[in-house]
Amino acid sequence: MIIKFLLSFLLCCSCLLGEDLLPVYLTWQTDPTTTMTIQWLSKPEAKEAALEYLKADETVWHKATGECQALPHKAPYNINRVFLQNLQPNAQYRFKIKDSEATHLFRTAPKELTEPFSFAVGGDVFPDDLQPFQEMTKQASLHNPRFVLLGGDLAYTASVKRFRQEDFDRWFTFLSVLSKDLKDQSGCLIPLLVTIGNHDVVGSYGQTPESAPFFYSLFAMPGIQGYNVLRFDNYLSLVLLDSGHTHPIAGAQTEWLNRELQKQGNVLHRFAAYHVAAFPSVRYYRQAIPTTIRRNWVPLFEKYGVQAVFENHDHAYKRTFPLISESHVPRGGVVYFGDGSWGVKPRIPKKASRTTYLATAQSVRQFLNVTVSKTKRQFKAITEKGVVIDEYEQVVD
Ligand SMILES: [Fe+2]
Repeated sequence: MIIKFLLSFLLCCSCLLGEDLLPVYLTWQTDPTTTMTIQWLSKPEAKEAALEYLKADETVWHKATGECQALPHKAPYNINRVFLQNLQPNAQYRFKIKDSEATHLFRTAPKELTEPFSFAVGGDVFPDDLQPFQEMTKQASLHNPRFVLLGGDLAYTASVKRFRQEDFDRWFTFLSVLSKDLKDQSGCLIPLLVTIGNHDVVGSYGQTPESAPFFYSLFAMPGIQGYNVLRFDNYLSLVLLDSGHTHPIAGAQTEWLNRELQKQGNVLHRFAAYHVAAFPSVRYYRQAIPTTIRRNWVPLFEKYGVQAVFENHDHAYKRTFPLISESHVPRGGVVYFGDGSWGVKPRIPKKASRTTYLATAQSVRQFLNVTVSKTKRQFKAITEKGVVIDEYEQVVD
């Protein structure tokens, strides 16, 4: 059984990308309308992070260079990162990495919300089998999201046992799948945003970034601070938080959140994302982390008018009522979506009717397709087969 698993795993790693291609994946660290961060793994002998890029209607390639660093724990690859700036909003670009024949495409985000803008959200991504992870990734890509947000427990590389190192091969496979399958219908790579989960850090909770060396090496965003905000001009802001894995919830992170949300008041659509759910669909409501989040972050979401929050960790689908002070309100209120079932075996959630906060809860694998426009926010929970299992809409005030 173990030999069969190892053989299929090694086969998957080598055939996902082809003979000489290594994972290439995108993210945004700042203004998504004019920048792009391109990341890729290379063999240790490739010492320079260099690429060429051009806009779809240009003929002359521009050169760009960045950082090339060894991965931790003697993993046999370097991580390369090139930050492109001064790009044109809502434009398609092509790039090719030095010494590689392959070319890749990406799109910058629009400056204004003149047409509906979609993105995909999920979490608890690649726990064991490759197939559900790949199917959900392909299904999400079919809907042409402008980015994908994965809220922790990405590749399940970290053991709960403190003395064990992370399994880098799982990170490699995770990135290989995204590099191959996270492309929209015009072939553009879809930028990836992530938050940290308990399975991305050795020790799970109450650790420091040193215990999550791969998470912090592989993803430029949210960066070593562990939490960050990404703002799409004046139409969308997204706060990415660490639910107590490598940064405490209370204290510096909550103070930062207060300052940042204060600045987002003129943004039309305001969202937040993190791993452990404040309003869990499966786990006990009074557990320490949900309680700490409800005490520290939830009052700030309510105070500054965050409209939706994306939670994970419980491995089911849930949508809460619009909530203020933990109670269902008829107008306004924050809606919490979750609960992390991108690639995991779904768990049986609580009966929504037996809680005060769940509008719906289902035992199903899904991602959330979010579409924002000048007049509304639409949320659709979709299975890997493309079946819409829940729809919800908010009208812009
Ligand atoms: Fe988790």
